[in-house]
Amino acid sequence: MEKERKYYIRTFGCQMNFHDSEKMAGMLSEGGMREASTEQDAGVVIFNTCSIRQKAEQKFLSELGRLKKLKKRNPGLKIAVAGCIAQQMGAELFKKAPHVDFVIGPQNIHLIRGLVEGEEAGAAHLEANPDLARSDLPVQRNGKPSAWVNVMYGCNNFCTYCIVPYTRGREVSRPSENILREIEGLAARGIKEVNLLGQNVNSYHGDTGFSGLLGKVNGIPAIERIRFVTSHPRDLSDGLIQAMKSLGKVCEHIHLPLQSGSNSVLGGMNRKYTYESYLEKIEKLRAAMPGIAITTDIITGFPGETEEDHGMTLRALREIEYDGIFAFMYSPRPGTRAARMDGQLPDVVKSARLSGILSLQDEMTLKKNKALEGSLQEILVEGPSEKGAPGQYTGRTRGNKIVNFDSDKDLTGHILKVNIKSAGIHSLKGELI
Ligand code: SAH
Ligand code: SF4
Ligand code: F3S
Repeated sequence: MEKERKYYIRTFGCQMNFHDSEKMAGMLSEGGMREASTEQDAGVVIFNTCSIRQKAEQKFLSELGRLKKLKKRNPGLKIAVAGCIAQQMGAELFKKAPHVDFVIGPQNIHLIRGLVEGEEAGAAHLEANPDLARSDLPVQRNGKPSAWVNVMYGCNNFCTYCIVPYTRGREVSRPSENILREIEGLAARGIKEVNLLGQNVNSYHGDTGFSGLLGKVNGIPAIERIRFVTSHPRDLSDGLIQAMKSLGKVCEHIHLPLQSGSNSVLGGMNRKYTYESYLEKIEKLRAAMPGIAITTDIITGFPGETEEDHGMTLRALREIEYDGIFAFMYSPRPGTRAARMDGQLPDVVKSARLSGILSLQDEMTLKKNKALEGSLQEILVEGPSEKGAPGQYTGRTRGNKIVNFDSDKDLTGHILKVNIKSAGIHSLKGELI
C-alpha cells in the first residue's frame, strides 16, 4: 500500500487517550487506510497528546519537533495533533509548530477521517460536542482478550490541580443501551474482559446508574470479567460495594485515588472527602471483599503542603496497605485554581517527598505481592510476555497483578489457574496447574 494510505498514531497519557486512538484508527481503517509500522512509512501522523503534567507536555513538544525534518523530506505528510494538549493550546499550536496540519480536541475525534481525506488544513477543531455520548465510533482493537469501553466522557469535578475538566469538557454518560450493544459485539468477537472507562465512573448518570450497568454487563454470557476505572472516593456508594461483591464477574480490584492523607491538602484540592471518610470506604470494601486489591494515585508537593501533611500521606500508605500506587510531583497546570495558589513548592521538595512515598510503597507492594506466594490465582492470559523468553506468557489476576508463566501452548484469551511461585514488586511468577 502506498504511503499516503497509511497512518501512524503516537499516544501519550491515560487509557481514555489510548482508547480514543483506537477509535481514530477505527475510522481511518473504515476509510481504507492501514496502520504504518513507523512514522517514516506513514502519510498521516497523529499525535494523541496529554497535558496532565508539564513533563508529558514537554515530551510531546520535543517529539513533535522531530517531525519537522520528516515533513521537509515528505511535504505530502499530514500531521495532526489530537488529545488534551490540542484542546488546551488550540490554534496556538500552529504558531509553535507550523508543520502541524490539524488540531483536534478530544470531543472532535469523529472528524479525523474527513480531515485526513480532505484538503483543508490549518484549522483547530475544539468545539463542544453534545452528541459525544450517543455516537458509537468504530474501534480498531489491539487483539488482546480485554477491551476498553467508554461509559462516560468528561469530568465535572474541578479538582483544583487538574486540567481534565478543561480539556475533556463536561461530564456526559453514554446510554446503557449503546454500552451494552458495544459489549455484546465484543463478546461475539471473543473478548473476555471489559474495562469500563470514565474519569469518574461512580457518577455514571445513564438510565441504569453505575451499579445497574454493572449488573447488566454481568448478564452478558461470553464476558467473563468486568473492570472499571476510575472511581472517585466521594461517589463510591454502599450500593456499588454491594454490586461488586454480588456480581461474580466484577473483579476484586478498585483504583481509588486518595491524592493526599492530609485533610487540609484534600480541602485545597477540592476533593470533597476527608481521610477518615475515605478510610471508612476502604474498610467497607475489605469487609465486603476480603483480599480485594486496592490501588491509588498520590500527588506530592501540592501548594502549601507541609512536612506534617506529607507525613500524613506516608502514614496513610502504611495504614491502608495499597497493592500499588501511582505517585506524581504536583505540576501547576495553566488555568487551574491550584496554579494560582500561594505556597508553591520548589521541585527539590516535591521530588524528595515523591522519593519517600515511592520507596515506602515499594516495600508495601512487595509485602502484598509476597503474601500471594503459594496461592492459587485465576488469570486471563493476555499473550506472550513482552520481554520474556519464547514460551513465556503473561496474564492478569482478578486483582490486576501481572503473572508471568511458561507454557508450550499459546493460551492467549484463556482463563486459567496458576500457582504463584514467587513475587517481585512489578510482577508475579506463576506455574500452570
Ligand atoms: N479522573 C481520574 C484520573 C485523573 S488523572 C481521577 O480522578 O482519579 C490521573 C492522576 O494524575 C490523578 O489522580 C492525579 O493523581 C494526577 N494528576 C492530575 N493532575 C495533576 C497535576 N497537575 N500534577 C500532578 N499530578 C496530577
Ligand atoms: Fe481531574 Fe479530579 Fe476530574 Fe479526576 S476527578 S479527572 S482528578 S478533576
Ligand atoms: Fe488523559 Fe492526559 Fe487528557 S491523563 S484526560 S490524556 S490530560
